[in-house]
Amino acid sequence: MDAAERIERALEGALARTGGVGAPPKLVAALRHAVFPGGARIRPQLALAVAAACGDRNPALADAAAASIELLHCASLVHDDLPCFDDAQTRRGKPSVHRAFGEPLAVLAGDGLIVLAFETVALAGAHKPALMRTLVGVVARAAGAPNGIVAGQAWESEPEISLAAYQQAKTGALFAAATVAGATAAGVPGEAWRMVGERLGEAFQVADDLLDAFATAEAAGKPVGRDAALGRPNAVQLLGARGAREHFDELVAESVASVPDCPGRDPLRAAIAARAAGLLPKEVALSAA
Ligand code: IPE
Ligand code: IPE
Ligand code: MG
Ligand code: MG
Repeated sequence: MDAAERIERALEGALARTGGVGAPPKLVAALRHAVFPGGARIRPQLALAVAAACGDRNPALADAAAASIELLHCASLVHDDLPCFDDAQTRRGKPSVHRAFGEPLAVLAGDGLIVLAFETVALAGAHKPALMRTLVGVVARAAGAPNGIVAGQAWESEPEISLAAYQQAKTGALFAAATVAGATAAGVPGEAWRMVGERLGEAFQVADDLLDAFATAEAAGKPVGRDAALGRPNAVQLLGARGAREHFDELVAESVASVPDCPGRDPLRAAIAARAAGLLPKEVALSAA
């Protein structure tokens, strides 16, 4: 089974636990709308790529960790699109969850996915309690405060924001969880992998800022120009397009350089660099090449 199939299967298995007899039908539909069909699934793919590079000794646990991270990501998108945050009507080329199901169900679907993320790791780790404890901590750190998604979104309510702190928390933290969890699930010390994900995640957000500034809503599958309209700190606004592109390149280089020694080190480094190169909107990739 390839990584994409492993991820979809693990997500299906998790979502199956939220449905069935006695479940509120609209909530079940809203949860599925938030997760399927997916977007790029880049975070769980990163987790599984790191697990594979480290020997993938506990594949079921790696799958659960990858799914847990994607569930948190999907939850963050549902909440991020709400009127009280970015007020986005579309996501992944279809109506955002609150647009399709209303605000109460969007709040609850996001909450439900966060709970499901933790349950997914806990159930898969029942036979590996030490690894499970570490993984729960890794996932919690990425999701909450002071440096996870909750903190990242909270920076938008502060009068002054550092771009790096904002982007590291709202996006870098979950990518860091992906690399740390992938290694942890494979049974190797995970913290050595934090920098790989942290830098890649920050680069990913810079690319998303470029997308927000230069892509079309059709290509992005979500509204563009939102950062400028809402006054959100954005790498393009602060550094200019060329500066943002250079910052992106530096962050990717730092991510690749920090891949620790492991059996699959060289292929993983090449895969990260190749994947990163495809993240930039076409116009920017060509103009700054
Ligand atoms: C969007 O993430 C939110 C950001 C952190 C920029 P993705 O671009 O990974 O979203 P999907 O999952 O592919 O739709
Ligand atoms: C998203 O940041 C970070 C989250 C925690 C969801 P953005 O607001 O830039 O992401 P998009 O552009 O809505 O996907
Ligand atoms: Mg947004
Ligand atoms: Mg954005």
